[in-house]
Amino acid sequence: MFDSGFGGLTVARAVIDLLPDQDLVYFGDTGRYPYGPRDLDEVRQFALQIGRLLRRRYKAKLLVVACNTAAAASLEHLRDELDIPVVGVIEPGIVAASQASTSGNVGVIGTVGAIGSGAYAAAVADLNLAIELTSCACPGFVEFVERGETDGEGIELLANRLLRPIIDADVDSLLLGCTHYPYLARTIGDVMGRPVTLVSSADETAFEVRRLLIEDHREGEIGTRTFISSGDAGMFESIGRRLFGAELVGATEHRWDVSGDAQ
Ligand code: DGL
Repeated sequence: MFDSGFGGLTVARAVIDLLPDQDLVYFGDTGRYPYGPRDLDEVRQFALQIGRLLRRRYKAKLLVVACNTAAAASLEHLRDELDIPVVGVIEPGIVAASQASTSGNVGVIGTVGAIGSGAYAAAVADLNLAIELTSCACPGFVEFVERGETDGEGIELLANRLLRPIIDADVDSLLLGCTHYPYLARTIGDVMGRPVTLVSSADETAFEVRRLLIEDHREGEIGTRTFISSGDAGMFESIGRRLFGAELVGATEHRWDVSGDAQ
C-alpha cells in the first residue's frame, strides 16, 4: 500500500482492522510529498516506481493505491504493468458516498490534482450512479495533516473558506476524496453541519481488499506490519504514531536515486 505521506494510514488502519492476518507493507513517499499540486504525469511516474518496488522487493500479492491523487493519475497504468490486483480508493469511495445520500446531492473534496483530473465525474459516469456531484479542491488541508496538526483555529478558518461551494450546493453526503482528510473529519463535520454524512473511502477500500483476498485468509494469525518512508524515518515514525497509533514502530528509510530506482 502506498500514499504520498501519512494519509494512506487511514486506509492501512481499515485494512488491518478487517484483515489482521495479512502482512502489510506501507510506503509513505514523504520525500516527494505533496502529490496534490504536481503534474499528474509526474505523480504517475512516482506511483509506477513505488508499485514496482512493492511488487519486486516486497513481493506484494496485491497493491492498494491509498491516495486519491495517485489513483487518479495511475490506476490503469499500474493495472497494465503489474501482474497483481491493484485497488484504488476512488470507485469504492464514490459508491459509498452515493449510497449514503438520500437526496442524490453528493459532494467530493480532494487535492487540486485529484479533483482537476475529473476522475470522480468519470467514475460516476462509468458506474452509472444517479447522483448530482459537486467537487471542490481543498489546497492546504494536506499540509496540516503532514505537520501532525489535525485541529485548531487555522484549520477551522481554512475549512470555512474552502468548503463554501459544497455547503452552497446543499449536499447530504460528502466524500473525503483524499486519504489525509479523515484526520480532519471533526473540523470538516462541524463546518458542514449535522445533516451531512461524511464518507471516507478507507472502509470501502478495505472491504474490496478483503473480497479479493478471501482465499488467503489465515485463521488466528497476526500479520507483520512494515512501514517505509522515502523521507526522514524518525519523523515518519513520530508523526505517524500520533495519527495511526502505537502499532507504528520501526519505520525504515528508503532513498530514491536520481533515476528513481531504489538505492
Ligand atoms: N493523500 C493524497 C490523496 O489521497 C494526497 C496528498 C498529497 O497531496 O500528497 O490524494
